[in-house]
Amino acid sequence: MEVSDVEKDVTEILVSEEQIRSRLAELARQIETDYSGRDLLLVGVLKGAVMVMADLARELNRHVSMDWMAISSYGSGTTSSGVVRILKDLDTDISGKHVLVVEDIIDTGLTLSWLVANLRSRGPATVSICTLLRKPEAQRMTVEVRYVGFDIPNEFVVGYGLDYAEHFRNLRSVATLAPTVYS
Ligand code: IMP
Repeated sequence: MEVSDVEKDVTEILVSEEQIRSRLAELARQIETDYSGRDLLLVGVLKGAVMVMADLARELNRHVSMDWMAISSYGSGTTSSGVVRILKDLDTDISGKHVLVVEDIIDTGLTLSWLVANLRSRGPATVSICTLLRKPEAQRMTVEVRYVGFDIPNEFVVGYGLDYAEHFRNLRSVATLAPTVYS
């Protein structure tokens, strides 16, 4: 879906399809270097990270394994609840493995801090984080985010996996949602 298909619902394209593609290619080169000679397990956080995971994984010119977790965070509103619940756990035993968590967006960082602590308790060799988008508040997080696609302003965004009430995930770019949609 293009922005022109939903032009009344979005105010601005924040990150274009092309910007996403070229930034993911840069991150992939960095990841290839950093994990050279080591097995790598990508853990995608459903559902938002589906697009990032698909495109990042295909950019990587090496073998990777992929697994998924689903955790609840936002419901259908636009503010973080801080309540995290596992809806779907990993299929893989991650002990001794190099895990790279692939996220769509970090806002308060609450979800991710919880997730990283949870994964670390399972005895992996390393756990690092890759996120396509990061909002300003996340920079105060205690958990280090190793790979960041774009730092964006503190606005509610949709597209490229990110939803508002389960809509807009299939938008090709990342765009800001018009306040009329949720007010
Ligand atoms: P956090 O716990 O505040 O970092 O929230 C992280 C999760 O909230 C993300 O994985 C998204 O699912 C959701 N989220 C945060 N900001 C946005 C946004 O601007 N649009 C859509 N979803 C968002």
